[in-house]
Amino acid sequence: MSGRLPACVIDSGTGYSKLGFAGNTEPTYIIPSTIAIKEKAQLGAKGGKELEDLDFFIGSEAMERPGYSTKYPIRHGLVDNWDWMERIMEQTIYKYLKVNPADHCFLLTEPPLNPPENREYMAEIMFETFNVPGLYIAVQAVLALAASWRSKLIPKKTLTGTVIDSGDGVTHIIPVAEGYVIGSCIKHIPIAGRDITSFVLQMLRDRENIPPELALDIAREIKERYCYTCKDVVAEFQRYDSEPEKWFEKHKFTHPVSKKEFVVDVGYERFLAPEIFFCPEISNPAYNQSIVETLDDAIQNSPIDTRRELYQLITLSGGSTMYKDLGRRIQRDLKRIVDNRLKISEQLSGGTKSKPIEVNVIAHSAQRYAVWFGGSMLASTPNFETYCHTKAEYEEKGPGICRYNAVFGTTS
Ligand SMILES: Nc1ncnc2c1ncn2[C@@H]1O[C@H](COP(=O)(O)OP(=O)(O)OP(=O)(O)O)[C@@H](O)[C@H]1O
Ligand SMILES: [Mg+2]
Repeated sequence: MSGRLPACVIDSGTGYSKLGFAGNTEPTYIIPSTIAIKEKAQLGAKGGKELEDLDFFIGSEAMERPGYSTKYPIRHGLVDNWDWMERIMEQTIYKYLKVNPADHCFLLTEPPLNPPENREYMAEIMFETFNVPGLYIAVQAVLALAASWRSKLIPKKTLTGTVIDSGDGVTHIIPVAEGYVIGSCIKHIPIAGRDITSFVLQMLRDRENIPPELALDIAREIKERYCYTCKDVVAEFQRYDSEPEKWFEKHKFTHPVSKKEFVVDVGYERFLAPEIFFCPEISNPAYNQSIVETLDDAIQNSPIDTRRELYQLITLSGGSTMYKDLGRRIQRDLKRIVDNRLKISEQLSGGTKSKPIEVNVIAHSAQRYAVWFGGSMLASTPNFETYCHTKAEYEEKGPGICRYNAVFGTTS
């Protein structure tokens, strides 16, 4: 298969799909993971199956389309409607990437603990419908770990480390040892981008007069543009109150239809919204574990011989980890927990000194699309194709081949 065109790299998330080509540093397209399909009744009226096959839109074209219903085939990271997923893939390939899939290998991503039959469905679609020559389905966390090699701060390029992946619908803490996810130690946190947007929306609702049809988008924009992680909430409130002109922002926007201009004051939500990672009870009284405690639990549950390395390389991945200083705050708070535990164990053992535990939380420039970027990097290595499942192998043995993937990408 050598000499083929660059592999296509597709990371399909709950909220957004990242599409592009191996070797690039950024995805070529980032589109909402949505599909708009004609309402059934109208489809019936037009009659033909062919029309039905062509009459759909994906991505931003699928939003707010009268006569169509908008569907999200990925829920909490998992595909739950394969017909829609196949159609999304069709337009992804022909309309966005504009490639003949028979000419390119494909690297797709899956969330941790994806049921193996989901891999088989995906393989069936890719090999049978699109006739791809080679397919690799990579675990998102492993790709995110590979993406952290971009940072100069990592001690070595290893596939052992802990990934904090926070997207739109879900946040996961995933310990990885030598390229394999330690499945039993993964932790889910019920706070991700969507929840933080809702929190901002809630805070704005109490104060501002924003047109309701735009409110969610404005809340998201404000979140993405102005929010950051602070060191200490009480001190931060004091800073705002003593120098409001320095800290309060004014967000301006124009109504797309009426062209009326709006100005929204942006204040405490700038630091309070990301704070829900650390004190979730401010938005959800039923949940009160800080992301840092969950991270520590995940590592403490992992095999003892991996723990030092899991603390040493913790990397951020996904849109919802983009808050300024999020990594620093997590590193500081985690270091406190770890040092405290060490101190207690030293006291219990009568003062025997233990080797300090290094804690590094890595933020890097490809963090927003870390999974996609890791995929792009690995799929551009010269031996990528030798790790792919091939069409010939698929035809001989069936979709079960995709249950197992060779891990690759580690260098010493
Ligand atoms: N600069 C930013 N600051 C804060 N949040 C951001 C920023 N940029 C994007 N986001 C948020 O990141 C989320 C999308 O992230 P991402 O594309 O990683 O999710 P996804 O892969 O679609 O979802 P998932 O990983 O949950 O399946 C959205 O909630 C978006 O508002
Ligand atoms: Mg994602």
